[in-house]
Amino acid sequence: MSDYSKAFRLDGKAALVTGGARGIGAAICEALAQAGAAVLVTDVLEAEGQATVAKLRAAGGKAAFLRQDVTDEAQWEAATAAVIAEFGRYDILVNNAGIETAALIANCTLDDFKRVQAVNVDSVFLGMKHAVRAMSPGGAAGHGGAIVNLSSVAGIIGTPAHVSYHSSKGAVRLMTKATAIECAALKSGIRVNSVHPAIVETDMGDKFVADFVTLGLAPDVATARAGMEAIHPMGFGRPADVACAVLYLASDAARWVNGSELVIDGGLTAA
Ligand SMILES: NC(=O)c1ccc[n+]([C@@H]2O[C@H](COP(=O)([O-])OP(=O)(O)OC[C@H]3O[C@@H](n4cnc5c(N)ncnc54)[C@H](O)[C@@H]3O)[C@@H](O)[C@H]2O)c1
Repeated sequence: MSDYSKAFRLDGKAALVTGGARGIGAAICEALAQAGAAVLVTDVLEAEGQATVAKLRAAGGKAAFLRQDVTDEAQWEAATAAVIAEFGRYDILVNNAGIETAALIANCTLDDFKRVQAVNVDSVFLGMKHAVRAMSPGGAAGHGGAIVNLSSVAGIIGTPAHVSYHSSKGAVRLMTKATAIECAALKSGIRVNSVHPAIVETDMGDKFVADFVTLGLAPDVATARAGMEAIHPMGFGRPADVACAVLYLASDAARWVNGSELVIDGGLTAA
């Protein structure tokens, strides 16, 4: 019989969470640390990232901060080495860092499109590449592991004025499945899954609503918000709602879950 009380614990494990300075990433760091993992918090926002670490440590967690731009491969090599040097292991990668930009496709510049792919897609490719090298048998960490990638409902359905973002989150969804299947075929002991939130109350969630005004698709923020909330059957989500899903996928409770897409949207895409 399984010990379900331990299935969701991460004691003795080490995690790297990108974009952990604020929003969903900070909540994920808190969830993993409370479950017992040591957490390397990375972000380009140094003061906010250090504040996340201070909060985790104040609550008795083990955590460190590293400045990391997720678009840069050399910085991924450094971050991968840092989690192993700091904690002696590398078991969990959460590819959370991301950006959102809004433009009608007729006005969307190629630079804007490429920047979103760099932050949201190159990052996930590079993070998985270096995590798989490190976590696979014979790698610098070598115990297998769990990778969780932040996609979005925007990786499944479309909305106006966000072609760059949808492209990036759709790519994350399928890069997850491709890497999951490859890791299983190679018996590397690494599971890879994606999570797909709808609008969550963060800086990005606020911007997504405000974009509709900027683009002239809604007269003001209150109207834009009311319109967006109306299509979310349970209202907007909270960072902790996503953090709980990531915790599950990172834990041994999800031992047989691989290549899956966990939708966390209060029912938005169920209709
Ligand atoms: N908030 C939502 O409504 C929502 C919905 C679905 C999916 N998501 C996804 O969840 C993830 C987190 O979103 P959030 O709402 O917390 O956003 P946020 O803007 O509040 O936080 C994103 C974090 O990523 C960091 N970041 C951005 N570019 C970076 C770079 N180049 N290198 C390192 N760090 C970088 C930012 O500094 C920030 O701390 C993103 O991948 C986002 O696409 C968000």
